[in-house]
Amino acid sequence: MTLLALETSCDETSAAVVRAGKVLSNTVSSQIKLHEEYGGVVPELAAREHLKNLLPVAQAALREAGVSPAQLDAVAATQGPGLAIALLIGFKAAQAMAFALNKPFIGINHHEAHLYSPWIAGTPPVADFSNFQPNVSLIVSGGHTMLVLVASELNHRVLGGTIDDAAGECFDKTGKLMGLPYPAGPIIDQLAELGRADAYDFPRPLIHDANDDFSFSGLKTSVRYFIRDNPAVLEDRQKVCDLCASVQAAIVEVLVKKTIRAAKREGVSCVTASGGVTCNRALRNELERACKRNGLSLRLAQKSLCTDNAGMIGILAERKLRAHVPLPSLDAEIQPGWALA
Ligand code: KG4
Ligand code: ZN
Repeated sequence: MTLLALETSCDETSAAVVRAGKVLSNTVSSQIKLHEEYGGVVPELAAREHLKNLLPVAQAALREAGVSPAQLDAVAATQGPGLAIALLIGFKAAQAMAFALNKPFIGINHHEAHLYSPWIAGTPPVADFSNFQPNVSLIVSGGHTMLVLVASELNHRVLGGTIDDAAGECFDKTGKLMGLPYPAGPIIDQLAELGRADAYDFPRPLIHDANDDFSFSGLKTSVRYFIRDNPAVLEDRQKVCDLCASVQAAIVEVLVKKTIRAAKREGVSCVTASGGVTCNRALRNELERACKRNGLSLRLAQKSLCTDNAGMIGILAERKLRAHVPLPSLDAEIQPGWALA
């Protein structure tokens, strides 16, 4: 079975060709530069860029995989959640293609695809669910932070999520307060390596609350007040590195503590993580350390599959086709607010 998958839910235009659990190609065109001057994703601009890039990106994915449209058995696309006018581009293109080829169309929940991306690994990436273990999965990106219990394949339940800002948003917004360009997450990761994580003490919101929810807006506000009261910190490179390390430590500690606690409470022996913030080296290291201490196995999505990509959409679509999950009809619509159950 050979599938083409398209992903346009936010600011990455991506197309992938998947066959028998293998990601034959996974082309991503990022719009980061375009949105940098606005300090965040501008939906109208994102949609225009998807329109411009989608066909070249899809053609590149087909070419790299050595697959022609006539060889496709199905076409998949992200149905939601995401920015409505961005989702529309990939979703309608995939439906039109499925219609023209007279092949099945599969609409995929973006977060559900993230849930299974830690089980795809290697170069080229191959999905291996043979050693699948029930797990607690942390999805952590610029738009979302949530904990999900994945009891078995295609069977999951959301345990909790952020009640305000996502963790990636907290990285980006505190970075903006420090004068760093968007997205600041990867830069904070770099600068933090040169700083002391115990230099400044920031709050760890909800860390002791007996729920699986997160809140990062208070942390952002305390960084804002800290910079207002200590503006000289931004003039000293070492102090900026210390600030980055201290903010990062607060975010990472909350994510790791709550993930491990949920895993222990739910009685699973495995933790997984995916989404752009999973690229963060401190988060990867701390999750690894905490899992080892608690006798849990850990599967982190590989970095190329952490950020938004069509490969993970294609892999889940193929699993759904094989499992005979009912598929949306060709006139199905996007679901921008499609929350994972
Ligand atoms: O999953 P993603 O590509 O897009 C969505 O938000 O859906 O995630 C992007 C987010 C941004 O907030 C970015 O700053 C953050 O992931 N990010 C990082 C790192 N790499 C990406 N945050 C901290 N450390 C990193 N190394
Ligand atoms: Zn995502």
